[in-house]
Amino acid sequence: MSSEGLHAPRERLRDETIAQHQAIQSVIEELEAVDWYRQRADDCDDPALKAILLHNMREEIEHATMGLEWLRRTSSDFDKEFKAYLFSDGDIAKIEEDATR
Ligand SMILES: [Fe+2]
Repeated sequence: MSSEGLHAPRERLRDETIAQHQAIQSVIEELEAVDWYRQRADDCDDPALKAILLHNMREEIEHATMGLEWLRRTSSDFDKEFKAYLFSDGDIAKIEEDATR
């Protein structure tokens, strides 16, 4: 298995850590694709092509979100933070302040 992006010897890592790494790397790549498609669409003057680029961007948002949901289901730490911050209202920075009071 590729050691790309691993910051410790693979043989010292738990299987769940490798799986989390694969999920996190995949989410990073999906989000990069979202960014690239959005920029390319903004830079595109052909309406038909712009529509395709935006369609592809939305597909990548779906892929990134699927990866994030997998991380939530397999990590109580991600689950705790996603529940605290996602779909919340009000000042995001204040959520932590309120949670630690
Ligand atoms: Fe994708």
